[in-house]
Amino acid sequence: MDADLAPADVSPSRSRPARPSLAHIPGDRGWPIIGHTLQALADPMAFAAQRAARYGPIYRRHMFGEEGISLLGPEANELVLFDTTRSFSSAGGWGRMLDRLFPRGLMLLDFDEHRLHRRALSVAFKAGPMRAYRVALNRGIATALDRWGEAPGAMRFYPAIKSLTLDLAATAFLGAGEVAETEALQRAFIDMVAASIAVVRWPLPGTVMARGVRGRAVVAAYFAARVPERRAGAGDDLFSHLCRATYDDGRPLPVADIVNHMSFFMMAAHDTLTSSLSSLIYFLARHPEWQARLRDEAGRVAGTEGMLDEAGLDALTETEMAFKEALRLHPPVPALPRRAVRDIEFRGVSIPAGTVVSVDPLFTHHMPEIWDAPEHFEPRRFTEAASAARHRFAFVPFGGGAHMCLGLHFAYLQAKCFAWHFLRRYRVTLPAGEPAPWRMWPIPKPVDGLPVHLARL
Ligand code: HEM
Repeated sequence: MDADLAPADVSPSRSRPARPSLAHIPGDRGWPIIGHTLQALADPMAFAAQRAARYGPIYRRHMFGEEGISLLGPEANELVLFDTTRSFSSAGGWGRMLDRLFPRGLMLLDFDEHRLHRRALSVAFKAGPMRAYRVALNRGIATALDRWGEAPGAMRFYPAIKSLTLDLAATAFLGAGEVAETEALQRAFIDMVAASIAVVRWPLPGTVMARGVRGRAVVAAYFAARVPERRAGAGDDLFSHLCRATYDDGRPLPVADIVNHMSFFMMAAHDTLTSSLSSLIYFLARHPEWQARLRDEAGRVAGTEGMLDEAGLDALTETEMAFKEALRLHPPVPALPRRAVRDIEFRGVSIPAGTVVSVDPLFTHHMPEIWDAPEHFEPRRFTEAASAARHRFAFVPFGGGAHMCLGLHFAYLQAKCFAWHFLRRYRVTLPAGEPAPWRMWPIPKPVDGLPVHLARL
């Protein structure tokens, strides 16, 4: 295997800088060795709320083997994500979790190098490619939902949408011809994503990490073998666009960069879309009045030959508001880690270079100071007027600043296409009784797989 494609063993983001002293920051170290890891994983919202009540919005905590700090609230989000002084490294924050499996993915690059790569990759999200993805998503969703209708009734929504999202990624990201070949690839991806949050971080035989590293080799070999034919072709899928992308000076992206970026894209899109579409359907099932409103809206938007078209996408304003509200309540990326690369001060507290710093969309999205009755599902929070009246970093499901989600428009596209096709075909309800809770970490997920009942309309 090309050395550039092998799983990274050492990278600048994983090599540990000297640990700065954080004793001047309020907080504690929690349990010996594991610190607060278990507490925070079990209920990240309650953990942050409890720390905030005890120590305030800047507190020290000890997780995943390292002491770091959390900064809460929209101003903190702006400081860290907008990062006008280039003080926070994304690679240094995410690398601890991701760089063995997704080395040099876009989120694992920083500053000038990141900007160079991001500009090259942006070509895959321009209007032309987005039109092609819309066609692919419409077709894939319509076909799958018709198949669901062959046996309507009780189903588990979460595994069904997870599998559909993988199929859609195969067509929109890789091209329709690849679908038959992608089973091994899908297995490999599932192993890589599972390994990115594995407790045992070394690929010892039999561990989740070992399977993830093997998955990485399968995926890297798959993409690398296909770059030459994709470069020469005229494919409209995301992979083909990356193969033909160039840096500002006209140089094509090297094979290793294409492989790294493709692997990262698939990972970044997969669980986030699975989680957010599950949240949307969960809230619509719990709030039949909103389900009926969105169904009326979907009925008013005619589409073209059974497909949601460009004009229809723009017209689905209430669907967009409901999707945002689902992202507010269950942000698919609940915390965003960075590492300070220089000393910096925030609200009179000095943050030394080398500190792991996290901001917390989950906490911010539930702050009663910002959101009335924050636990209540209320899509009207996202009218233009209501949104304009809030701090621009109060709602951050896609992050913000230089690393803001590159697939944001793709995510809205898939969510709207799915809602439009789904609500025109089905009414969805939850079984009687109190719904099971959601586990919020590492990505919001219904613990029972979200059993629902679908009635064909
Ligand atoms: C609802 C769905 C999604 C959510 C909530 C989401 C959320 C996020 C967030 C919060 C970040 C920034 C992380 C940080 O700053 O630390 C991010 C980055 C990114 N996302 Fe998404 N994402 C979603 C879907 C997608 C999709 C569909 C794609 C690809 C088609 C994608 C590709 C990326 C990429 C490439 C980055 C890295 C950007 C950079 O570092 O410049 N995401 N996403």
